[in-house]
Amino acid sequence: MGWNSWNTFGTDISEELIKQTADFFVASGLKDAGYEYIVIDDCWAEMERSADGKLVPDAKKFPNGMKHVSDYIHSKGLKFGMYSCAGLMTCAGYPSSFDHEFVDARTFAEWGVDYLKYDFCYAPKYINGPLLYYRMGMALRECGREILFSACNWGSDNVWQWIRSTGAHMYRSTGDISDTPNSFRDIALSQIPLLGYSAPGCYNDTDMLIVGMFGKGNVALGGCTFEEYKMHFALWCMMASPLMIGCDIRNMSDEVLDLLKNKDLIRIDQDEEARPPYPLAGRVGTDLVLFKFLSDREYALGVFNFTDGMIKPYIELFDLGLPLSSGCCMSFREIFSGERIDNVKECFSVAVPAHSCKMYLGRIDRI
Ligand code: GLA
Repeated sequence: MGWNSWNTFGTDISEELIKQTADFFVASGLKDAGYEYIVIDDCWAEMERSADGKLVPDAKKFPNGMKHVSDYIHSKGLKFGMYSCAGLMTCAGYPSSFDHEFVDARTFAEWGVDYLKYDFCYAPKYINGPLLYYRMGMALRECGREILFSACNWGSDNVWQWIRSTGAHMYRSTGDISDTPNSFRDIALSQIPLLGYSAPGCYNDTDMLIVGMFGKGNVALGGCTFEEYKMHFALWCMMASPLMIGCDIRNMSDEVLDLLKNKDLIRIDQDEEARPPYPLAGRVGTDLVLFKFLSDREYALGVFNFTDGMIKPYIELFDLGLPLSSGCCMSFREIFSGERIDNVKECFSVAVPAHSCKMYLGRIDRI
């Protein structure tokens, strides 16, 4: 859980922005809610390496260097993340780590970096994709510091099949999110069938959050409504994705802050078992009903309405795995409204307005 500069700021990053973001993590309670990593994405470096072959921070954006930024973030009890790329240049055209993996990993370690996002632009064609991640995976293991390895190859080479073997702790397996409802819907629908590969140790990263961007920033393409941000955040939590905030947290509304700090949703996301949700038969597409086993015999149920009209699907306990012959019933609490639905024996209907969702936590009792 953390924040990444890309979605809102793109190239417009600076020491001041990062320090203010760190201050706000503490003051707003995001840190207490579990958000930990502050990650500087692409566009932080000078265009040339130093004479001894090291990456150099942009002197205008980061006049005191990266160790200074890192010390500041650590002084707040937070962790520091940076970005590089497996190819010949980063996606935005800056120096990249191909054939500099070991010197760069050591440099990041010297700067006190705790997290490395590792992108895939301009990958040389004569080395296979997985090998580029094995190289950095090995460099990070040998750099003398614990650094979380966040792979980002957008799903190339069926990344979910081999990425765990590179030592990565999380992996992007889609193209970039943009600040629109269709973007987060399409990412969710494409990833749900692949979540069996995501598990403790190495998680499917469904991309940085667009929650709270409201059409402003680097990946803004129209924006979403607050109800749509609720759907997006709830979907990411059901998928146990890393939660990397992407909006300008210094200027967000209380409503957005409360959503990002929602304890029930964060608990679903961070559940230690990270079991994938399963979609209820016949519903994927327009509306989507997801059911998920949590640890401690709890269950999460999400009803997501992507259509332009109200939906009222029936939730049959039979479809969840609880037939009448079980002698059991279920009780649910809706996370946003607190509304309770108790002692359901067979089915109940859920009314969900257009472009909105209902999220339940449930338990099973004997009748
Ligand atoms: C790629 C990544 C994005 C971001 C940009 C930076 O597109 O997928 O998340 O890091 O590069 O240039």
